[in-house]
Amino acid sequence: MAHRLESLFLEKRALIMKRPAILSLFAWGLLLALTGTAQAAGDPVAGKEKTAMCSGCHGIEGYRTAYPSVYHVPRLGGQHAEYLIKALQAYKTDARNHPSMTGIAATLSTQDIEDLAAYYAGSSGK
Ligand code: HEC
Repeated sequence: MAHRLESLFLEKRALIMKRPAILSLFAWGLLLALTGTAQAAGDPVAGKEKTAMCSGCHGIEGYRTAYPSVYHVPRLGGQHAEYLIKALQAYKTDARNHPSMTGIAATLSTQDIEDLAAYYAGSSGK
């Protein structure tokens, strides 16, 4: 009898101890879901309006520009939003360096970057 009670007690304890693990798993899932939607928060319509300062270089046929010397300008349209966000943040934080892009990215807010990325990711153009 005493043995049975003891095992019952242990079983209960095991159940109680499992609970926080399940709860924290749930919390992680929720957090992931939330950050997932936060990343997709870019507004392509607002982004299009912000491309005025990009299209001078990124909108040129053949993606080459002549100033200060002839160099290749990467195509942005159709690239993954995550890639564009990473690239712009890298310029902003100086992790990636380019005389024109570092200066431009420095003026962009996180929202600007997400909007621009959402616009370019959804456009097949330049
Ligand atoms: C003065 C010309 C110029 C302007 C204006 C400009 N860019 Fe760029 N951009 C470049 C060049 C050149 C590169 C390639 C730099 C390098 O090799 O790192 C580049 C690279 C990029 C990249 C990385 C692409 C890749 O494939 O890795 C992104 C993203 C980008 N630009 C976005 C923008 C956005 C958004 C704007 C407007 C807010 C903008 N650029 C304005 C010239 C420009």
